Parts: sequence; structure tokens; C-alpha cells
Amino acid sequence: MSTKTEPVELINPSEAVTNAAVIKNYEEVYQRSIEDREGFWAEEAKKLQWFKPWTKVLDDSKKPFYQWFTGGKFNIVSNAVDRHTKTWRRNKLALIWEGENGTTRTYSYHALNREVCKFATILKSMGVKKGEIVTIYMPLIPELPIAMLACAKIGATHSVVFGGFSIDALSSRVNDAASRVVITADGGYRRGKVIDLKTIVNSALQDSPTVEVCITVKHAGNAVTMEADRDFWFHDLMSLPIVSMNCETEVMDAEDPLFILYTSGTTGKPKGLVHTHAGYAVYSATTLQYVFDLKDEDRFWCTADPGWITGHSYLVYGPLICGATVVMYEGAPNHPYPNRWWQIIEKYGVTILYTSPTAIRALMRYGEQWPKRHNLSDLRLLGSVGEPINPEAWRWYHRVIGGGKCPIMDTWWQTETGGFVITPLPITPLKPGSATKPFFGHEVGIVDDQGNDIPAGAEGNLVLKAPWPGMARTIHGDPDRYKSTYWGQYEKQGWYKAGDSARKDSDGYYWIIGRTDDVIKVSGHRLGTAEIESALITHSDVAESAVIGVPHEVKGQAIYCFVMLKPKLTGSHELETALKEHVAKQMGSLARPEKIQFVDKLPKTRSGKIMRRVLKAQAMGQEVGDISTLED
Ligand code: PRX
Repeated sequence: MSTKTEPVELINPSEAVTNAAVIKNYEEVYQRSIEDREGFWAEEAKKLQWFKPWTKVLDDSKKPFYQWFTGGKFNIVSNAVDRHTKTWRRNKLALIWEGENGTTRTYSYHALNREVCKFATILKSMGVKKGEIVTIYMPLIPELPIAMLACAKIGATHSVVFGGFSIDALSSRVNDAASRVVITADGGYRRGKVIDLKTIVNSALQDSPTVEVCITVKHAGNAVTMEADRDFWFHDLMSLPIVSMNCETEVMDAEDPLFILYTSGTTGKPKGLVHTHAGYAVYSATTLQYVFDLKDEDRFWCTADPGWITGHSYLVYGPLICGATVVMYEGAPNHPYPNRWWQIIEKYGVTILYTSPTAIRALMRYGEQWPKRHNLSDLRLLGSVGEPINPEAWRWYHRVIGGGKCPIMDTWWQTETGGFVITPLPITPLKPGSATKPFFGHEVGIVDDQGNDIPAGAEGNLVLKAPWPGMARTIHGDPDRYKSTYWGQYEKQGWYKAGDSARKDSDGYYWIIGRTDDVIKVSGHRLGTAEIESALITHSDVAESAVIGVPHEVKGQAIYCFVMLKPKLTGSHELETALKEHVAKQMGSLARPEKIQFVDKLPKTRSGKIMRRVLKAQAMGQEVGDISTLED
């Protein structure tokens, strides 16, 4: 077990930030939230609009399948859109969007409501029913949140599949959800190129027999093939006379599903995590409100794509529930020049920037002269998410982008948690590289495999000791997997196992180290090594493979594959390139391996388990350590 002394440097928030913050005393509110967890969440839930109040805040009778706000009638869209149209916020900008090619579009809350209502009536006319799962596969354009909100409004469950995923990844998700309707776009821009999404969808749908309708937004103007009776243009549908600007928001049970989001786990099959209307709404809004201290004057830019949980919670639902102005940008951070993001911040007067360490590290490499060309003084808070942020990147972000005055909210959380779990508040004294302390209502343990506390400074498993409203309720179609993955190891104690290892220092600050399972984070994107191995094995030359994550200066982690070829074949540079291409094609280019190493044998235990530790040591040129269990 490793112990480490953390740097003592403590960065205090500026007076301006502290004075503006709603929460002035973390300890006091935290204590109250632990002593009366249900009371704390009920108080937050009351700030939202309910068709009918709940009868029970937390129902733990079926644990670990916890239920929140049972008996309540609710719809997240009444809160994210409807209620704002009845106040002065109807004229406030909800969305400011900029496309990679420079096109801009803005939507007031009034306009957003209009578009959501119109699209919701279309979905209804297509026979979309409450509870049905609609798959959305789109670039980062306004129609993406509009489609999500339209689904939620009529009670359909959305499943957003990241637009960077491949044909196979898309069709397996469509099939797992048994979607009848898919919403997509002709194409999206990335670094000046058009990604031909509709062609990917057309191929995926050949293996997805449940799909009857595909709606396509015209965005990039690339040539696409439309299939008669199945394919419809979004703009054609939106201009039909049956389309109404008034559409009732469906009254949902608090625990009705809002969305499914697939994420990688230990096995090759991605898990469709299920989030609900009410608990998720309360959690995403409360966490955002307190951590980023949202004010009506703010312009909040979360750079994530809604294909990931960060985009769901903090680009779409959380900010809209809070009535914020959200900035959305479609393309690459360095296109056409490395100042693109800094230009956007200046142009729109962004006050809060929430992004990933990978993006910071990548932009940092271009040098300070790029941000220095722009006036970034509207920024007041910064955020980081998705992977540990190294102190060097943290300091650059703080000094160069934040001008030394903007605290960095390093938020630790997961697709499963729905929102922030370990995070600073604007008033928290910061330590670069630490996500600091638990959000309200959370007791976070660092424990060994049996559940014993690990002493301060030493590494252990991160567990969450009590339920919270934003927690994923189950895995779509596989409740047993939900129970065993997250609640199996600490069943006796009733704790949630996050799958991360972490340390807590003597000041009670948490330091996240990384995943303890076979999940890797490449540029903050979550990938399962088993999924990559499954993709490799479908290549005709591959007999067996083992995939590990190795540290990477920009991406955090990179994909390193050990490949055993079929008898009589030998590895070559060409085959290495072909295998990289094969994985990218099977899964999406985000999974393109960094390195393929051909081997004659894989190190295995006598019971046949691959010893990844040995591979990792070899890949990194380190000592292999104890190999007494090695078979050969
Ligand atoms: O390992 C942790 C890492 O990302 C994992 C969750 O990935 P995903 O479900 O894709 O959600 C990412 C966005 C919330 C975690 O188990 N992670 C997330 N945030 C941080 C982090 N690691 C260190 N520091 C963070 N702030």
C-alpha cells in the first residue's frame, strides 16, 4: 500500500468569489446534511416545481434499489423549460451556440420551449409513447438538447449515444434499448472535416431491426441516403401544419426513467445506466447551483458533449433547471487556430468554464500566447472533470486562464452518480490536484477490500456510504449486474463501490488516483479494456489480446495493446497500423490504440487470468514485482 505526502500549498479563494458565494460555511451545511440527509434533500427538492409533492423522501425498502421522492408527480422539463417561460426569464438566453464553421444561433427560454414543444408533438405523432426509449446520435448542435427535452417532455426515455462512436457501438446500444425511433443529423464538423453521421446510422440500422423511424437534422449539408418510409428530415417535420407550439408536459412519477446512458465497465458489454426524472433533477441542479454558484448574469460554458454524463447533467439539465445561459460549441478546441476557445470566452463573455484536464493539457502545449491574445476577465470560476488533473495543468489553468483569481472546481463524479460527489465550493481553500471534500449529503470512505478504514495518506477503495437522489437506479435490463457491480463487495455495510482508488490526507482532502477495475480514461472518455479486446479479436489475424492503459502526457491515459497473432503469422508495422484502424472502426476513433505490441504469449495465472500488472510493468519499463502466481 503506497502512502504519499501531498504538497502543502493551499490556494485561498479571492474575496470577490467568497463574498458572492451563497454557501459561506461548508462545515455547518455539511454537518446538517449528514445529520438530516432526507431533510436536506427535501429542502432542495422544494425549490423545484412538482405536479404533486412526494410522500416519502427516501424509500430504502428495496435497497440497493433506492427510490427518492416516491409518490411525487414531476417532470424535469417543467423545471428546465416550462417554469422559466412564465417569468422574466422567458426573454433570457437559454442557449448560445456556435458551430465549428462559425455559424451562431441563440435561443431564449421562450424559443427553446417553442422548439421543444414542436418537436415533442412530432414525436407524439410518430407514436412515441411514455417509457419508450428513443436513441439520439447527433453532433453538438442545439437540436440535440431540443431532442432530449422533447423526449423527456412526453415521457419517453432518451438514450444519447456519443456521435464519435462507431457503427457497431451504435447498433448494439440501439438494440439493447430496442429503440423504434432514432434521431440523428446528416453530419457534424470536426477540425474542418464533416463526420458523416447519417451514413454511420444507415449502416448501424441494418443490424437494428426494431427501428422504424429515423429523423435527420440537416446540419453539415453532406450528401446522405434517405430510406423511403423510414427516414424523415427534421426541418420537413417541423414545418408540418400538425406541429403545435403548445404541448402538455407529461405528468410523470418521480421515479420514472428520464434517460439511459451507456458506459463502459469490466466486461465487454456497456451498461445502460438508468436515471430518473425527479431525483436526478434535484441532484444535478443542487450540485451545480452550489458548486458553480450560478447567478443570473452568468454565462456557463460546459465543453462536454451530451454523449457523456457531463453533457447531460451540466450542459443540459442542471443549467437549464437553474435558469442559466448555456454556451455550446460544436467543434475542436484548436480549429482553425489554438485560440478558438479563448476567442469564444471573450466573444460571449463566458463567466464559468467547465472542462477536462485533457483539454487543458492539450491547449497548454500551444503556449500562453494564444490565451494572452484575448480578454478573459469575465471568467470568475473554472471547473475540471473526468480524470485527475495534474498540479502542473491545474496551475496553468489557474494562472493563465483564470488570471490567478478564479478558483478551480475539480469535481469528482461518475455516470453512475449523476452529479458531483467530491468537489470544492467557491469558498474552499484549494490544493492543486485534489477534488477536496464531499458534497453535501455524502459520506465518503477510503477502505480496504473488507471495508476497514484506511489511514490518512494511504490508498484505498473509494466508497459512498449513503444513497443520494442523483444515483443511477439500475442497469437497463440487468438489475443483477447493477447490484453486484456497485453494491456486491460491501453488501454487509450497504456501501456503494465507486471503482476508484483514492487517498484522504490529514486535512480531510481527497486525492483521486484512478480506476481499480479494467476501465481506462482516455482523454477523460471512459473505455473498457474488455471492449477493446473484443474489437481486436474480431480481426482475422488476432488470436488473443490484452489491453491496458498507460500514462499519457496529454490524454491522461493511452491504450496499449498486447496482441498474440494466429499461428504462423508475424507482426509488422503494416499490421500494427491495420489493427489500430480496425479498433477505431469497430468502436470509434476515440478508442484508437496508441501502441500495439506483438507477443508470443500473454502472462497468465495458473487459473488463466491475464496478469495485467505484469504487462503494465513491461509497457512502462518497470520492475515486474512478485510473479509467483505466473503460470509460465
Ligand atoms: O475514475 C474517475 C474519473 O472518471 C470516472 C467516471 O467516468 P465517467 O462515468 O465517464 O464520468 C466522467 C464525468 C463525471 C471516475 O470513476 N473521474 C471523474 N472525475 C474525476 C475523475 N478522476 C479524478 N478527478 C476527477 N475530478
